[in-house]
Amino acid sequence: MCGIVGSIGLKDPRNYVEKGLKILDYRGYDSAGIAYLSDGIKIYKDVGSVEHLFSFVPSHIETNVMIGHTRWATHGVPSINNTHPHLSFRKKICLVHNGVIENYKELKEFLVDKGYEFVGETDSEIASNLLEYFYLKDYDVISAIRKVMSLLKGSFAITFFTSDDENVLYALKKSSPLVIGLGEGYNLIASDASPMISLTNNFIELEDNEYTVISNDSVEVYDQEGEKVNKEKIHKDIETISHDLKGYPHYMLKEIEEIPSVVNNLINEYFKNDEYQFDPHLIKDLNESDHIIFIACGTSYHSGLVGGRFFEYYGKSASRFIASEWAFHPTYPGERPFIIMISQSGETADLIHCLKIIKEHNLKNLIITNTGGSTLDRNAMYSLLLHAGIEVSVASTKAYVAQVTLLSLLSSALQNDKKTIKDLKDSIEIVKDIRDNYKPIIMNVADELKDKTNIFYLGRSYDYFLSLEASLKLKEVSYIHSEAIPGGELKHGPIALIEPGTPVIVFITDTVTASSMRGNIEEVKARGATVYTIATQKLSRKEDTIIVKDYAYYLSSVAVSIVAFYLAYYVSISKGLNVDKPRNLAKSVTVE
Ligand code: AGP
Ligand code: GLU
Repeated sequence: MCGIVGSIGLKDPRNYVEKGLKILDYRGYDSAGIAYLSDGIKIYKDVGSVEHLFSFVPSHIETNVMIGHTRWATHGVPSINNTHPHLSFRKKICLVHNGVIENYKELKEFLVDKGYEFVGETDSEIASNLLEYFYLKDYDVISAIRKVMSLLKGSFAITFFTSDDENVLYALKKSSPLVIGLGEGYNLIASDASPMISLTNNFIELEDNEYTVISNDSVEVYDQEGEKVNKEKIHKDIETISHDLKGYPHYMLKEIEEIPSVVNNLINEYFKNDEYQFDPHLIKDLNESDHIIFIACGTSYHSGLVGGRFFEYYGKSASRFIASEWAFHPTYPGERPFIIMISQSGETADLIHCLKIIKEHNLKNLIITNTGGSTLDRNAMYSLLLHAGIEVSVASTKAYVAQVTLLSLLSSALQNDKKTIKDLKDSIEIVKDIRDNYKPIIMNVADELKDKTNIFYLGRSYDYFLSLEASLKLKEVSYIHSEAIPGGELKHGPIALIEPGTPVIVFITDTVTASSMRGNIEEVKARGATVYTIATQKLSRKEDTIIVKDYAYYLSSVAVSIVAFYLAYYVSISKGLNVDKPRNLAKSVTVE
């Protein structure tokens, strides 16, 4: 995924680059580096946090040009040699890259043939050397850029400078984002506008197959044929995003505890004066469609599973797909399908791929996202925002609940069913009750689970969808292997994994399936499992671990997902892990 920042002409680029990389580390945090030109090219890299990198970067840097990068590795382990910026073999080109160069192997062979040597395994290092190879032919950077753009296959947002000129910063782009920030006597570049917002409100967005030549006072953009492109200046007053922990030790805990207000805000946003507040065209299109297709990834896919069931309740047929699966085998059941995409970040590459296909087929579509101005928000036919506030923790919690809430509101609006509003408000009270009264018992369970290596979640119907999310959350932040199994599927195979002491966490909040779930509990107990049950009052038995007040059973993912989130959080904390930034993950998954 990777985050890129660059500056030219800025008096104190160190400060901007440091803050920018911290803001962009939602795009990856495997390693980070910076480079600038000051009496030759200087590069600092660290396999660790941006904070640690800047602990040994000089505190004052005199330079006209600086680039920085925070990496999420796709090619090559997180190591110093693979960390960006990459300096070319003959030390002429210094470059940062976001994306995946698919034909890097053949390009590497070409360069090895020409005598080039490589220090790491990244595809990005090929790009710096390819640029250098063509640059050295006649010292013409522009023709080198155009040649390289014609050769690179895959995705790239590349920003670089040459050792020969501190007055120019170059960038080229295809499929990965780059935004230019326009200043007075300086110009900036970054993967998105957020790192630049404190220095400018004026931006230019680079489109695919464009390159740019940036100096202190000018920004020129060209297409791949070398024709100058007149770019529209965009004025953005992006709200400065608050990363304030507000006294909490971690973002994940803060975000879990924001859930009641997130649900409340959504109700107030989409239901006012006793009426649903959705675009009537959207409601008409949904009502006229004969099939709803949900497409998303990870946690957002799990909310799509729940949402599909909501729409089915109101008589719609629905199917659900993981974006990276659908993109390669798209199917459109029905004659008038309507696509609902769900994405917290609005930047997930797998889903953007789907949107391209959806648009090629002129299919009606909606994005549900937490990020106004994101790629999916800008490009989908309809967009509904989650208004959940920034979610910093890589493990999504409040955004999941917001997605399910919004889907329940939207589906109810199709038939103007207002009972949902009361059910949602009741759920808020359940969440508050769990937040205020159940943390000690959840911490005890977390303590018993922290040294386990295999944990199973069981549920049926709505409780199964919740189990999937609970299991994903636990594995993300605790690194414990866990699986969610529909109660009825146990006997078809997974029960072979149950042995004495295996923890099995069971949700029994679904009236329709409760008694079958009790049967499943007996089955795993008979094989020695240690069972923890989360049940609603009316379905409970005295031996249950956690008994919560009753609520409308279809809202499990709103009312009791918080139990699963706390559990994952406390297991992670008791293992001493970095709960907000789990290993190998990134907040925004911008590579396919
Ligand atoms: C959530 O905890 C995960 N980090 C991940 O599954 C995430 O939900 C997925 O990558 C989809 O992201 P999106 O909602 O931003 O599209
Ligand atoms: N492919 C490059 C690397 O592995 C960039 C990765 C990315 O943008 O995610 O370093």
